[in-house]
Amino acid sequence: SKMIIRAMSSSTQPIKTVAIIGSGLMGSGIAQVAAASGHKVTVVDQSQEIVDKASASIQKSLGRVVKKKFPDDSKAQQTYIADVMSHLSMETNAVAAVKSADLVIEAIVENLDIKKVLFSTLDKEAPSHTIFASNTSSIPIKDIASSTSRLDRFGGLHFFNPVPVMKLVEVIRTPETSDATYSALEAFGKAVGKVTVQCKDTPGFIVNRLLVPYMMEAVRLVERGEATPKDVDTAMKLGAGYPMGPFELSDYVGLDTMKFIIDGWMERDPNNPLFSKSELLNKLVAEGKFGAKSGEGFYQYKK
Ligand code: 3HC
Repeated sequence: SKMIIRAMSSSTQPIKTVAIIGSGLMGSGIAQVAAASGHKVTVVDQSQEIVDKASASIQKSLGRVVKKKFPDDSKAQQTYIADVMSHLSMETNAVAAVKSADLVIEAIVENLDIKKVLFSTLDKEAPSHTIFASNTSSIPIKDIASSTSRLDRFGGLHFFNPVPVMKLVEVIRTPETSDATYSALEAFGKAVGKVTVQCKDTPGFIVNRLLVPYMMEAVRLVERGEATPKDVDTAMKLGAGYPMGPFELSDYVGLDTMKFIIDGWMERDPNNPLFSKSELLNKLVAEGKFGAKSGEGFYQYKK
């Protein structure tokens, strides 16, 4: 009918081609689920060495996925991995990658100035229909979007670590995000197999706004000498049903990332006690103890 045609023509085309800027834990995970759901994905990072490492980690993660998907069928496992990898390419030039992208997802360091420089460059190079999204966990989307001339085609797509396992993506809109852009982002989240929730452009959106203050209070509890990290973790796993305790989770997310998040919120809202800093967290980060990825955080890990 006419109404259906009108509705279709006013919405954007489905997203087929995706450029992911940043090949760390989050970027690689997003690339993996996007490629596995049939999108053509280009992952960008600063050097060939870094993107090669990302490609290897995606293959390793796919290895875990196929063990579950095709138990005892190594041929099907290999075919699946090869098929997903054929949807993925690695690139060190962000400008080249965005030329043919329907969607650009940024998953680089949690630093507003660096994100703005990136997006203002890409804004000049990407086609006009291209939607921009940030996977930031703590910086206002509108502050990042302000570096571009496509405020209506800009939103947030916030995934969770490990991306192949965690079923959620938060889809964030600013007051400027158009309905068509929001629908396209939401449809993309569903297309990669996630459940989507909507949230306004507020600090931490839903999950981190609750999770990060909880993890910080766990650190303060230990600083006050009330319990050990190990007992806090045991307590929250066995007493509240969390899959990881707050210290295991902090080490998993990365203590540097935790510090980026809490410092950023503190700067924007200095009087909020939920955002107050922790000497212990700052000390560990200053010593380069970032958690599992650096071999030590609250706990020690085999390298
Ligand atoms: N890729 C593919 N599959 C993976 C994987 C990966 N990177 N990591 C785990 N898996 C799979 C495993 O293969 C396993 O599959 P199976 O059940 O079929 O054997 C399954 O996931 C469970 O893994 P494990 O058996 O190794 O270990 P656990 O049962 O302890 O689960 C966990 C691991 C899923 C990480 C679980 O501990 C968990 O859910 N932890 C909490 C994670 C969390 O809270 N994440 C959110 C952090 S906040 C965030 O990301 C936001 C950011 O902005 C800060």
